[in-house]
Amino acid sequence: LDGDSLLVVSNRQPYKHSYDEDGSITVDRPAGGLTAGIDPVMQETDGTWIAWGDGDADSDVVDEHDRVRVPPESEAYTLRRVWLTEDEVDDYYYGYSNQVLWPLCHGGMWKTEFADEFWTQYRDVNETFAEAVVDEYDDDSLVWFQDYHFGLAPQMVREGLPDAFLMHFWHIPWPGWDTFRSLPNCEELLAGLLGNDLLGFHTDWYCENFLDCVDEAFENAFVDRDQKRVRHDGHTTHVESFPLSIDYDEITSKSADADEEWFEEFRRSYGIGDDVQLAVGIDRLDYTKGIPERLDALARLWEEHPEWREKLTFFQKGSESRSRISDYRELQEEVEEAVTRINRRFGTDDWTPIVYTEEMLPETDLYGLCRHSDVALVSPLRDGMNLVAKEYVAAQRDEDGVLVLSDQAGAHEEFGDDAVTINPHDVDDFVEQLQYALTMDESERRERMRRMRQRVEQYDLFAWLRDSLSTARDVKHRRDTEK
Ligand code: G6P
Repeated sequence: LDGDSLLVVSNRQPYKHSYDEDGSITVDRPAGGLTAGIDPVMQETDGTWIAWGDGDADSDVVDEHDRVRVPPESEAYTLRRVWLTEDEVDDYYYGYSNQVLWPLCHGGMWKTEFADEFWTQYRDVNETFAEAVVDEYDDDSLVWFQDYHFGLAPQMVREGLPDAFLMHFWHIPWPGWDTFRSLPNCEELLAGLLGNDLLGFHTDWYCENFLDCVDEAFENAFVDRDQKRVRHDGHTTHVESFPLSIDYDEITSKSADADEEWFEEFRRSYGIGDDVQLAVGIDRLDYTKGIPERLDALARLWEEHPEWREKLTFFQKGSESRSRISDYRELQEEVEEAVTRINRRFGTDDWTPIVYTEEMLPETDLYGLCRHSDVALVSPLRDGMNLVAKEYVAAQRDEDGVLVLSDQAGAHEEFGDDAVTINPHDVDDFVEQLQYALTMDESERRERMRRMRQRVEQYDLFAWLRDSLSTARDVKHRRDTEK
């Protein structure tokens, strides 16, 4: 880091303090790619992370500056909490962030809900976070915004700290202009992001989409595609792709620490004998993840290819998410109903086709399951990256499993045809590819898995970090010499 200290800004905090029934305080780590990805980076670098304190015990463990050292068991960096009112949470988080930007960026224009107060609260909360940044900032700080919750804050911070180095990583897709232009405040959002010096996306494709949007939205913007930068309003923003990754070594090693007895008991209780293949799916319960489509494909497989009955069990772990939004509640119900329906139809006294749980599982058991499973089904309708695909590959230390992966996930840009590629909307093809995955011969399985593991091992989370920070350094150097 060369003496710079990271000032990360995200909506979701990496650690949440809550009271349990007997009044003692527990600490949770929330689900989702963002916090999982950035936390190890912060642990290595001891910076400050600014985030929304949403736990009921959060305010009781911070100091007078709203700061607490985390992780609790081995304090390695500072978490600065920002407090939001109920209305702010409703309109900024559930509203603008998750009912406008989330669906829009995933290509779901029809799911967007526009309300004036969503936008005003989004702006106000961005202002609150921008003030916290200015407060925590010192001359060595490298400010790093995370994700779609902070489309406006960079420009706000730029006004207060004209010389600060600001970078931003957008963790979800960036859509084409024909989709993005449906957003009523699209120019303001673009201008907000152009307050950054460096703006990162997972793939080149999203970078191109962003540059197209800037080109179309502003007559006076200069978009230099060769140099990957934009000049707008007297400021230059460099736009670059950095495919987010995972801590390969840690996951590979944790997948060996799974509780074998637990796993054997798991297999026994669901009738997963030695001649039964195990497929896994692990997702936040989000409509972008394509879970109903996946269940449809499995039902079709058991229907049309009865030889797979009692010979294939599917384990799906779902993590409840954003349940105050009706689309999410409906998805949760849809998934549960589909699981019940399929199990009733194909299940026998000794065999449950789909084992579904929303329970928290220890990480080691989850990675152990990934290690010992034959196939992983990662079938999002659209996904910025999808780190589960990479986690599965890292947990496959015996190099014997198959990754079935949607071509709509950013991860597909990296794995290409080493994964078994599906289009989640094409059920017939999905079934065919499932068959292919389940019957693939060992040498092909190993060959594909080895190549995917090499990719993730080479470009792991720390490579992503080095890549992001060394680009930041170059951009900063160029900025300072061009001044
Ligand atoms: C995605 C987003 C993250 C978010 C995570 C969990 O990975 O890119 O910004 O934190 O989902 O969603 P939540 O709304 O619970 O933070």
